[in-house]
Amino acid sequence: MRFEGKSVIVTGAGGGLGAQTALDFAAEGADVVAVDINEAALAELQDRAAGLAGKINPYAGDLSLQEVNEAMIDFAVKQFGKLDVLVNNAGVAGRFEPIGELTNELWDRVLKVNLQAPMFSMRKAVQVMSGQPQGGNIVNIASVCGLRAGLSGVTYTVAKHGLIGMSKNTAYMYLKEGIRCNVVAPGGIKTAIIEDYPDDSPFGKARIQGGAGSDTGFELGEPEDISSMVRYLASDEAKHITGSVFVVDGGFSSY
Ligand SMILES: NC(=O)c1ccc[n+]([C@@H]2O[C@H](COP(=O)([O-])OP(=O)(O)OC[C@H]3O[C@@H](n4cnc5c(N)ncnc54)[C@H](O)[C@@H]3O)[C@@H](O)[C@H]2O)c1
Repeated sequence: MRFEGKSVIVTGAGGGLGAQTALDFAAEGADVVAVDINEAALAELQDRAAGLAGKINPYAGDLSLQEVNEAMIDFAVKQFGKLDVLVNNAGVAGRFEPIGELTNELWDRVLKVNLQAPMFSMRKAVQVMSGQPQGGNIVNIASVCGLRAGLSGVTYTVAKHGLIGMSKNTAYMYLKEGIRCNVVAPGGIKTAIIEDYPDDSPFGKARIQGGAGSDTGFELGEPEDISSMVRYLASDEAKHITGSVFVVDGGFSSY
């Protein structure tokens, strides 16, 4: 019950890592604002949270829009009087396109959700958290693609590198305000995003899934593996940790 009475926003909570993280925060007593473009998935999540100590409060919207990122924070503050934790998790991946195959549409779509949305939400969140005696906590979900060069297409790689830079800068700039900001960098985790990866790329599914066709042999992780790291970083147990990046990848990027 580390998050009893805490106000927590999780984006991309309709599926995959976000849904698991939102449920686990609620199980530890948090009031969770669960944000996603998929309204039906949020309703389902709310049902799954029945009986947990905390509550899932659905907030449907498209995070590629500035107003949605700002309104979800206003919603949390209006409902719970504060914002303790912001988890920027929503993301889209593209299909391993290198720069020569890149369309402007893909560049805009991936950067808007994966990098611009966290900029809008973090800008608003630090304004709220700076005025709170307890400060606040931001956890951003990047990827091993934010640390390595060839594990995804160029836009996703740029977005996740950018998210790591933005997180470290924010951690440093808001030390005195008591706002911590950390990054979790997953490797391959069993969610819908992995299913969409193409089989025919040398950096595609065969390598990511491990086993046959893989030169690393690592196993895909479970959403719980990421949720537990996110909640650790958002908890007081991690009070001395800010501006750090935590790789959770079962050894995938350790070669
Ligand atoms: N699964 C992995 O292997 C893996 C690895 C590294 C990083 N990540 C990162 O983890 C995060 C979560 O990914 P996941 O694997 O759970 O993927 P997922 O596709 O299962 O879930 C992503 C969620 O984000 C939502 N979303 C997408 N665009 C949105 C928008 N414009 N507005 C609001 N919601 C939107 C989707 O509806 C979905 O519910 C992403 O940032 C992803 O880049 C995942």
